[in-house]
Amino acid sequence: MLADQTIVLLGGSSGIGLAVARAAVAAGAKVHIGSSNADRVAAACETLGAQASGAAIDLTEEASIAEFFAAAPTFDHLVHSAGEWKRRRNIAGADFDLADAQAAYQIRFWSILLAVKHGLPKLAPGGSITLTSGTLAHRPSKGSAMSTAMMGGVEHLARGLAVDLAPIRVNVVTPGLIATDAWAKLPAEAIDAMIAGQPLPRPGVPAEVAEAYLYFMRAGYTTGQVSIVDGGGLYR
Ligand SMILES: NC(=O)c1ccc[n+]([C@@H]2O[C@H](COP(=O)([O-])OP(=O)(O)OC[C@H]3O[C@@H](n4cnc5c(N)ncnc54)[C@H](OP(=O)(O)O)[C@@H]3O)[C@@H](O)[C@H]2O)c1
Repeated sequence: MLADQTIVLLGGSSGIGLAVARAAVAAGAKVHIGSSNADRVAAACETLGAQASGAAIDLTEEASIAEFFAAAPTFDHLVHSAGEWKRRRNIAGADFDLADAQAAYQIRFWSILLAVKHGLPKLAPGGSITLTSGTLAHRPSKGSAMSTAMMGGVEHLARGLAVDLAPIRVNVVTPGLIATDAWAKLPAEAIDAMIAGQPLPRPGVPAEVAEAYLYFMRAGYTTGQVSIVDGGGLYR
């Protein structure tokens, strides 16, 4: 069902986004990936093969988002899994920095709305948008207040967009701990502590979470929904 469809993936050059691109290509789709580092986009396209194209996009800049979509092909599905991990958004209390916290929302939250604004003219009427949250939205950990609010915001934004943008479908994938490069730098003990007590006591792999994105692209009667892919982590 994805054969010959075109999927735009924001954040498709690594981690979860690249795994979605791989699975989509395997299902016969064409993918057009975007991320801020042109070399990483080119490297991802190289590994994905002839069905892949891509371009640099800086999701912190509306002009860059507009330019990316102006040059993009028309498409059937949009996936947003971009995120950066540098910001100090976890700090609430005396060290709270408003400008830093607001900037942290730019890629994971505001850029969704900018992608909708500039991407919608090229998105097929029967198409879909799949966003990315995280289980902190449902199970805060110490120091996660900002991330919990932001991830929860993405899930509720999807519910609202599902109504506003219908018949375009809008859904969210909510990963637990997925072993992407972003987590590879963590010491093994920190990862062990995060997965301890999970029904499936291991990190997920990107291909496992990619399945949920493919489901949402194919599931023509599903909109405004959240799929949690976390090895049962919410039931620790
Ligand atoms: N991995 C997990 O355990 C986990 C758990 C819960 C939620 N999530 C969520 O899943 C999403 C993806 O996670 P991941 O592990 O796949 O991360 P990742 O491997 O770091 O991928 C993030 C992607 O975002 C792109 N990106 C970063 N800054 C950008 C910018 N300014 N403009 C455009 N693209 C930009 C990166 O490419 P460039 O560097 O080329 O820009 C990369 O393609 C994140 O939003 C994260 O919150 C992940």
